[in-house]
Amino acid sequence: MSSLANILSQIVSDAFEAQGLPRELGAVRVSDRPDLCQFQCNGAMAAAKVAKKNPREVAAGVVDWLEVEYARAERVDHSKPAPTSCNSIFAKVEIAGPGFINLDVKKSFISNFLAENSQKENGGIESVGDGQEVVLDYGGPNIAKAMHVGHLRSSIIGDCLRRIYLTAGYRAVGDVHMGDWGTPMGMILSELDLMGHDGPVSMELLAEIYPKASGDCKADEARMALAREATRKLQDGDEAYTQRWREFIDVSIAGMKANFDALGVHFDEWKGESDAHPFIQGMVEALKQAGWAVESDGALVVPVERNDDTKEVPPLILLKSDGAVLYGTTDLATILDRVQTHHPVKIVYCVDQRQGLHFEQVFRAAEKLKGAGLVEELPELVFAGFGTMNGTDGKPFKTRAGGVMRLEDLISMGLEKARARLDEANLAAEIGPEEREDIAHKVAIAAIKFADLQNQRQSDYVFDLDRMTSFEGKTGPYLLYQAVRIQSLLKKAEDQAVNFDAAAFDVRDEDLSLALLLTELSDHFDCALKNHTPHVLCDYAYRLAQEFSSFYGRCHILSEEDVTLRASRLALCAQTHRTLVLLLGLLGIGIPARM
Ligand code: ARG
Repeated sequence: MSSLANILSQIVSDAFEAQGLPRELGAVRVSDRPDLCQFQCNGAMAAAKVAKKNPREVAAGVVDWLEVEYARAERVDHSKPAPTSCNSIFAKVEIAGPGFINLDVKKSFISNFLAENSQKENGGIESVGDGQEVVLDYGGPNIAKAMHVGHLRSSIIGDCLRRIYLTAGYRAVGDVHMGDWGTPMGMILSELDLMGHDGPVSMELLAEIYPKASGDCKADEARMALAREATRKLQDGDEAYTQRWREFIDVSIAGMKANFDALGVHFDEWKGESDAHPFIQGMVEALKQAGWAVESDGALVVPVERNDDTKEVPPLILLKSDGAVLYGTTDLATILDRVQTHHPVKIVYCVDQRQGLHFEQVFRAAEKLKGAGLVEELPELVFAGFGTMNGTDGKPFKTRAGGVMRLEDLISMGLEKARARLDEANLAAEIGPEEREDIAHKVAIAAIKFADLQNQRQSDYVFDLDRMTSFEGKTGPYLLYQAVRIQSLLKKAEDQAVNFDAAAFDVRDEDLSLALLLTELSDHFDCALKNHTPHVLCDYAYRLAQEFSSFYGRCHILSEEDVTLRASRLALCAQTHRTLVLLLGLLGIGIPARM
């Protein structure tokens, strides 16, 4: 019951119930015709079918009930003292068209709602998670390979989902799940052998030898055999190889951490595919025993097709004929690791949607883990796939030379552009170089993250540095600018010793659209949580910033002479600011103190 529409839903549901109609038909939402009413309930049409009545007749019953319970007391006699909160909710309850119920609420009710919510943690967002654990699998960089834009998307979206779960009261665990166990590891180890390299392995060395090794392996079957052999030895626990491998894993992680730090993406766990290794043998045995894993062309597979499949879902391969494990094997065994370590209620995978079929296979095979007695309860497995980030040419984003864009180069590009944008907009002009650089960094990260998160997760989008760094339009920098503007307004009030109570609202007509928008926070948060859709938060943040901007242009704030009204408007500014800070925080975007 944490948004205004939610509260109204409860009330209108009571009205439906009192007519003997299903409660859930009383759902109220923010009107999509704000020129006609603030909120609407469209349940009378469906209720009419149930009750075999005319929809307007049903709506009339509901409206009468609402008028008696919540509206009439004040409407009948305006000379009476202020009504109690119970009968002072609706300013208008009206039937429109075939049976829509249009609702307006009283400004006093909105003021009270805001007053209450302004005191609550997280703007009144409910803590529904109850401390249950959720593991989020995102990032997924591969050892020795440069991180590409797919990893960038995964990191940005996954980290945002982690923040959303945390705010909803879950214990959210972000795991980077590095690719550290496949044939590329053997390619590097065998390459080091061929080079007779004995000394330490640096990031530079790795970056140099991996492309060569991988090229050679592709071109030459005998060279590939060496890589396979080295991979097998590593997976079997060969001591010298393990030591080497550990060494280059560590340097790779150090490099990744620097990148993720710059991006402001956090992980609680730095595990990889290799951490699943201790679980594999037992898992394979149990699946074999239970009859879920069967031989097929020398390999060991788990058939996962179903009768009602509309497309072919091939079996998940557990072991290749040479005994090597595959991507699906480690993903399946990783579920066991996570269940034992965290007992999560959910595991959310934030991965390129082109891997959708792979996860379909893994999720289906995971059900057999329970059948084979390997887990008592299987957590809910969620595939939060995302689309491709394209260049302005509409093809998957590459560097100008056609290569993989490294994350650090992308951030530097963003940074350079952000500096130029600050100059252009004449922002931060009087601020010292160090702070200015920090501001430019925040602008760059806001630009990159917001441009990514604002898209429907599954859609492809175009990486357009020019557009995303602009201070105008639906961009991260625009939101930062608005947040900083409110910040400095509040600072000015403080400097001028204008006191106001952050919970004292006295909403007037001119403030109504901003005040109403502020009551929607929980609706959008709940939607983003339920569907794993950060873009819903982006839309709301953008609308809020725009609404604030017009409120700011339309209303006197510090210059308002009516002291109560001035205080209320400052409280509205403070509430808008708090909400924007919360939203940007959920998106993983930091706000500079000034600019
Ligand atoms: N390393 C993989 C890749 O680069 C992504 C890992 C995604 N997570 C997972 N559990 N498979 O494609």
